[in-house]
Amino acid sequence: MTQRDKVRLAILPTPFEPLPRLSQALSRNGRAPAIWIKRDDCTGLAGGGNKARKLEYLVADAVKGGADMLVTMGALQSNHARQTAAAAARHGLGCLLLLTDSVADRGETYRTNGNWLLHRILGAEIRVLAASEDSAAIAAETMTDLTAQGRRPYFIPIGGSNGLGSLAYRDALLELAAQAKDEGRRIDHIVLPTGSGGTHAGILAGVEEAGLPCRVHGISVSRSSEQAQAIVSGLVQDIFALEGRQRDTMAAVEVDDSQVGPGYGQPTAAMIEALELVARTEGILLDPVYTGKAMAGLVSLVRIGAIAPDETVVFWHTGGLPGLFAYPEVF
Ligand SMILES: Cc1ncc(COP(=O)(O)O)c(C=O)c1O
Repeated sequence: MTQRDKVRLAILPTPFEPLPRLSQALSRNGRAPAIWIKRDDCTGLAGGGNKARKLEYLVADAVKGGADMLVTMGALQSNHARQTAAAAARHGLGCLLLLTDSVADRGETYRTNGNWLLHRILGAEIRVLAASEDSAAIAAETMTDLTAQGRRPYFIPIGGSNGLGSLAYRDALLELAAQAKDEGRRIDHIVLPTGSGGTHAGILAGVEEAGLPCRVHGISVSRSSEQAQAIVSGLVQDIFALEGRQRDTMAAVEVDDSQVGPGYGQPTAAMIEALELVARTEGILLDPVYTGKAMAGLVSLVRIGAIAPDETVVFWHTGGLPGLFAYPEVF
């Protein structure tokens, strides 16, 4: 394993805990799978979430290259943008967020509260793009303009999902594997949200590296299964290329798109049911865009028997809590 530079941004290891009351709530005839949770909502950086791990590699790369600011993209309520702004603040870097107003039909608080409020408090410069604009082209132009102005910008793709960012979830999977070993617990399934794909790809790379007999179910929050599978597979290849490793066999990339509903950031009845169930059985808060839909996917997999009563499933909580405050009308 190649050793790469990281800065410290996340509180690690994150807890790995059982959810017995949720398991009981999903039991049929007194039988249910053991449901455990990996608490990456507790990574600590400006409210926690999965991007803290990715940013440990990405910010190290930026600092090493002499960057004086971070530039990234996302939706108005991007958790990735929030944690990037926080990481920039921690390292004395500037931060420019190119945020696309892409989620239709949202209430007033979507544009004033939640992550949007936190981006501003964290001191990021924000440029809002219309859904019709070509955000990738604008990002490229912005990088050129900033460089011409004498700045040294470092670009982080949406979700921090390139090979280097995704590598952090290879490390996270190895962290989980060690915790499961300490607990004497075999993991049969992992369920997580799949957005820009880096978290899913890193976990798959880790599962392959550790040789775990474990299925990884990505629950898509935006794309079709086929589109998301192609993105995740590409990122797994990028991780292996970074590590200078050959892949003989490719683990199955499983993405379930049954929970997307009307689209990215659009609430569904199953998300609301799953989010309230976890809050009311375990006192754990999920978010409406990512983890709520992923938990709806887990509930559905248990109900249809794809996760069997004698198996163990780990729900990977990737954070996103501030997003709840952008959706008060939904609950
Ligand atoms: C809370 C939360 N969970 C999951 C994801 C999805 O992770 P990835 O983009 O690596 O697929 C994101 C991405 O922004 C997120 O903010």
